[in-house]
Amino acid sequence: MKALVLSGGAGTRLRPLTYTGAKQLVPVANKPILFYVIENIVAAGIRDIGIVIAPETGKEVKDRVGDGSRWGVDINYFLQEKPLGLAHAVLVAKDYLEEGPFLMYLGDNLIGSRVTTEVKEFANREDLAASIFLKQVPNPKSFGVAVIDEDGRVIDLVEKPEVPPSDLALVGIYLFRPVIFDAIANIKPSKRGELEITDAISWLIKNGYNVQSHRVESWWLDTGKKDDLLLANDTVMDEWLQTDIRGVVDSGSRITGRVVVEEGAHLEQSVVRGPAIIGAGSHLVKATIGPFTAIGPDVRIEQSTVEHCVIMEGCVIQNIPRLEHSVLGRRVHVRPTPRNQESLCLMVGDDCVVEIGR
Ligand code: TTP
Repeated sequence: MKALVLSGGAGTRLRPLTYTGAKQLVPVANKPILFYVIENIVAAGIRDIGIVIAPETGKEVKDRVGDGSRWGVDINYFLQEKPLGLAHAVLVAKDYLEEGPFLMYLGDNLIGSRVTTEVKEFANREDLAASIFLKQVPNPKSFGVAVIDEDGRVIDLVEKPEVPPSDLALVGIYLFRPVIFDAIANIKPSKRGELEITDAISWLIKNGYNVQSHRVESWWLDTGKKDDLLLANDTVMDEWLQTDIRGVVDSGSRITGRVVVEEGAHLEQSVVRGPAIIGAGSHLVKATIGPFTAIGPDVRIEQSTVEHCVIMEGCVIQNIPRLEHSVLGRRVHVRPTPRNQESLCLMVGDDCVVEIGR
């Protein structure tokens, strides 16, 4: 079986980070989200992976992910000129996919479990045209929602319903047989101008094809917005982080809980409370870090407290009494103003959010 990963899109909800980088490469516990996706696909035994990329971020994705050799798989890229919808993205890779069943996985979705059993089962169930992954959610109005019968067969799909007919949301993971291309050929763009995969699946159901479902019992996180990203970071570190100290920790520093200190990182008179990760080449001086904090590579933090944050590559944080619930993109500097103590002195790009304590 092959897999298709969707790594195009505009990522408007994660601006400003997505002005300068792909949403799918944003780090969760210092690893791009897309890598977790690929690892899950590889764990399911799939060796051929297509990745849909956008013109703006495609090169960056290709450079980071490469040809798949690091995972022992073959990766091919498909350029989607415009983000015209999930079904449109599938169409872009039609020639690659149309010979057999395939797994489709959104490149910004994380789940806490493997998909191996479902992939194997689908490969053997020729009677199934599609199979979708569902997760029970408290706020179904915000998602595509599925109605299923007692055997898990999908009867209906509704996009962001006013009155939700169920609380089972579509996770961004799907299994398809090539008949999905007939379905896509028969649908029209939605009100928002996109070819919707839910419309294509609804077409299958209406035309008598068998669409099954699987419940995701573990957590599911869509990393589309800042708070989602922080939550993904918390969850991944809480569940998967194992202590691993490779950098230098001086005798004046203290580490508690599960903490990763990557190669070349240096802790001087600092306290790190896990779960936390300190990236390669980062330097902490009289800093207090964590819990639930991921510090990327080559970051410098001096005389500051940083808790529940994602701090990306090359940032510098100096003399900040408390920074929390924050996401800093690459090479951001946070320090006291040398001017009047009461004043704020900012140099921030478009769509940034600055929240000041009172
Ligand atoms: P979305 O999160 O639905 O869309 P988006 O990435 O454009 O984000 P936003 O709503 O904040 O603007 O996309 C889900 C995934 O599918 C994501 O990894 C991007 C990818 N995608 C494509 O590859 N092509 C597309 O045409 C669309 C809409 C999304």
